[in-house]
Amino acid sequence: MTITFTREHYQEAADLIGSRIQIRPQIALILGSGLGELADAVEDPAVIPYSEVPHWPRPTVVGHGGRLVIGQLEGKPVMVMQGRIHYYEGYSMAQVTFPIRVMQIMGIGSLIVTNAAGGLNPEFRAGDIMLITDQINLVGVGGANPLRGPNDDAFGPRFPEMTRAYDRELMGIARAVAADEGIELREGVYICLAGPTFETPAEVRMLRILGGDAVGMSTVPEVIVARHGGMRVLGFSGISNIAIDDPERQGRPTHEEVLEAGKVIVPKLTRLIKGVLRRWPDE
Ligand code: HPA
Repeated sequence: MTITFTREHYQEAADLIGSRIQIRPQIALILGSGLGELADAVEDPAVIPYSEVPHWPRPTVVGHGGRLVIGQLEGKPVMVMQGRIHYYEGYSMAQVTFPIRVMQIMGIGSLIVTNAAGGLNPEFRAGDIMLITDQINLVGVGGANPLRGPNDDAFGPRFPEMTRAYDRELMGIARAVAADEGIELREGVYICLAGPTFETPAEVRMLRILGGDAVGMSTVPEVIVARHGGMRVLGFSGISNIAIDDPERQGRPTHEEVLEAGKVIVPKLTRLIKGVLRRWPDE
């Protein structure tokens, strides 16, 4: 699919959202598979279904809500995406990252991304939370980079650098909150595959060699566009299952397992993200 957008499309979406809210969100949160409950913590929420926002793509997968929840979280004005859009659903990269451009136009300066991921690092267990320290755009290696095509210099540079895609100061705050809250926080590199197939055992072994600690089907396109637009990014993977490297010995990953692990992960992630928001650095 080759659907692309212009500034006018993003502006129409931003205008609709702006007409429904009194606050100016500063921080956006994207909730991954099975993690949507985190939106319940938002106070005085304005809820906007994606279907009411012009051009906004809609999730097609069980476990992804499909609405914006805008309000206060720990005294910070936030816009939460309850449910995200994935490349494997058949959407273009421009559609997958449409919300990020709308955020940019709305003046939202920071993005917290979350996802469900398979654990590649042998030390990880299902239910763990991993602070994303870096990412590998395996989908993009094949050319499906969300910035492919004409560059709008008003959004960001033609050749954006990605050396510190994940914000060092925010990562430090996340580590401090985890220590205070007694939450074991893993750290590592997130690899994005297109999906929707889970990995073969041979692919799992390959992804480990490539330097991945967790593997999933999202996040990386959004982070690329957010960084292109100069947003600060913090990311967490909820390890919903351990990626299987030996078909003779172990079970098999399922989407139900991913949703189930979300129940263990959500309470921890909620405490972590609330703690980070409480200590959020002044802009
Ligand atoms: N692989 C890819 N994506 C995933 C997985 C996995 O094992 N678990 C949750 N999302």
